[in-house]
Amino acid sequence: MTMGSTRRTVLTTGAAGTAALLMGCGEYGGDDGGDTTERSSPGGTAADGGEELAKTADIPVGGGKIFDEQEIVVTQPAEGDFKAFSAVCTHMGCIVSSVSDGTIDCACHGSKFKVADGAVVHGPATEPLPAEKITVAGNSILRP
Ligand code: FES
Repeated sequence: MTMGSTRRTVLTTGAAGTAALLMGCGEYGGDDGGDTTERSSPGGTAADGGEELAKTADIPVGGGKIFDEQEIVVTQPAEGDFKAFSAVCTHMGCIVSSVSDGTIDCACHGSKFKVADGAVVHGPATEPLPAEKITVAGNSILRP
């Protein structure tokens, strides 16, 4: 009898804890774009016109980072020099899969593009990745 009542108490507490966790996730994870007001940072950079894609420190020098949801790849060919390109491969439309050894790589059929300008290094793609507009404000990379 006593054990049964103790177990019920534990289960109730567990459910309440899970509900609290889910609510916490909702507050931070519900931003799918559109409204940028939740993204304001202490520096106020988001208010200058754009969605914050990343911090500059997130982008490796000589490499880059792919943002699947936004279909953008941001690269940093040289320290402090940030570029952005469409992450949609110009061959058949896959989202590029990785950035390594100075190239943006598509796993679908093996195309590779330069991190510096999106130019084709290795086919079958024949067209470069189109440039995308970004702005760097302080340590934030913004998409207008
Ligand atoms: Fe990227 Fe074919 S879609 S190489």
